[in-house]
Amino acid sequence: MLANTVAQNQSRQTLEHYDEIWLFGYGSLIYKVDFPYLEKCPAYILGWQRRFWQGSHDHRGTPENPGRVATLIAQAGSRCDGMAYRVTAEEFIHLDHREKNGYLRHEVPVFLINESGQQVKKLGIIYIADEENSAYLGEDSEEAIAAHIANCRGPSGENSEYLIMLDEALAELGVVDPHISQIRWHLSNLI
Ligand code: SIN
Repeated sequence: MLANTVAQNQSRQTLEHYDEIWLFGYGSLIYKVDFPYLEKCPAYILGWQRRFWQGSHDHRGTPENPGRVATLIAQAGSRCDGMAYRVTAEEFIHLDHREKNGYLRHEVPVFLINESGQQVKKLGIIYIADEENSAYLGEDSEEAIAAHIANCRGPSGENSEYLIMLDEALAELGVVDPHISQIRWHLSNLI
């Protein structure tokens, strides 16, 4: 599969059947919100784990020295917390371009957590970079991932900034993700 997924995303998923479109972000979409939205809400999805297993050629690394960024790995019994945004269909022109380095759009149930703590289930959209995409880097230890991240940078900035900003955004949401906090701990010994 080509690393550029823009055409695939535009042909594989029309958004016409949605009354409300909820985009669920679990990585940079939590802290870098460079698109307009109608409302946002802390949320989670089930059956997925956040992992720094995707390569970044275009944001936090280069084709010669790809950074490591977040993707989702299917894992029964897991919960992944993030932020959901209600957006219009037009935003996917920008979003598909932003997520073009291997991420495909998928439809999943998203559980919105409203201000009174109640949960509302919606059909949502997530971007996943699976092992079929050519930028995929795959599993490694948190220590090795931290060492990799410490040595990468790309057009959007330092790879370490992606990890640190995500860790801080998760802390603000009150979310503990041991994969992220362990990478951050190892990273703090390196930079
Ligand atoms: C996401 O944040 O939901 C997708 C991965 C990324 O852009 O970091």
